[in-house]
Amino acid sequence: MPDRLENVAPKDSARTLKVAAMGDLHVREDPRTSYRDLFGEISREAEILVLTGDLTNLGKPREAEMLAEDLRNCSIPVVAVLGNHDYESGAVDDVANILRQAHVHLLDGHAVEIEEVGFVGVKGFVGGFGSRMLGSFGEPTIKAMVSESVNEAMRLENAMRQVRAKRTLVVLHYAPIAETVEGEPLEIFPFLGSSRLAETIDRFKVSAVVHGHAHRGSYEGHTPGGAKVYNVAMHVAKPNGRPYALLEL
Ligand SMILES: [Fe+2]
Ligand SMILES: [Fe+2]
Repeated sequence: MPDRLENVAPKDSARTLKVAAMGDLHVREDPRTSYRDLFGEISREAEILVLTGDLTNLGKPREAEMLAEDLRNCSIPVVAVLGNHDYESGAVDDVANILRQAHVHLLDGHAVEIEEVGFVGVKGFVGGFGSRMLGSFGEPTIKAMVSESVNEAMRLENAMRQVRAKRTLVVLHYAPIAETVEGEPLEIFPFLGSSRLAETIDRFKVSAVVHGHAHRGSYEGHTPGGAKVYNVAMHVAKPNGRPYALLEL
């Protein structure tokens, strides 16, 4: 059973909230890949489940229905963002509706407050990190890519402004820093996330940030401003030895 959890709660908080976070479930139209039992375990270990995108493998409504069915075994609130895979079949609205009907708090530039903790979510986008980030120069398609990256960061900023809670968890699919994608091939780093997300995060006080997408990345890192970042893709090894991370907020 899990024995280690990351305590990111302020020292003076009267009560802490135990959050399980996991990404990249990639649910397929295959009944053998069921998360039913894992959701049961998580419901016993944590008070909130946070899912960091790539919930479905190909963005098919049937895959979302299968996930919704498994989530019936999850007895705690679920907060989620979508990932790039959830867009693949051009049915993202259907996927989102199915998950919302399954009582998932699906965040896409929004915030939700549960048990005095603000959860702020946006998918994020590609673009690269630090001084090597893709810049808005040249062909219109490159400019469109950069614009999408900037747009996601601005949507995150707007969502952050909605939060009134003292404790905040930022939920992303794409990585905000290079540190937690380390382990992936260097050539694909720019497609794994964008520092523009970290620049936005560092303008606010947050308890922690969780993301997925980098299946071969590293578990733990920090934004330049010091916010703790966890890559909770289920393939990434975590201190508790389980596919999900446990955070205490
Ligand atoms: Fe993924
Ligand atoms: Fe992804």
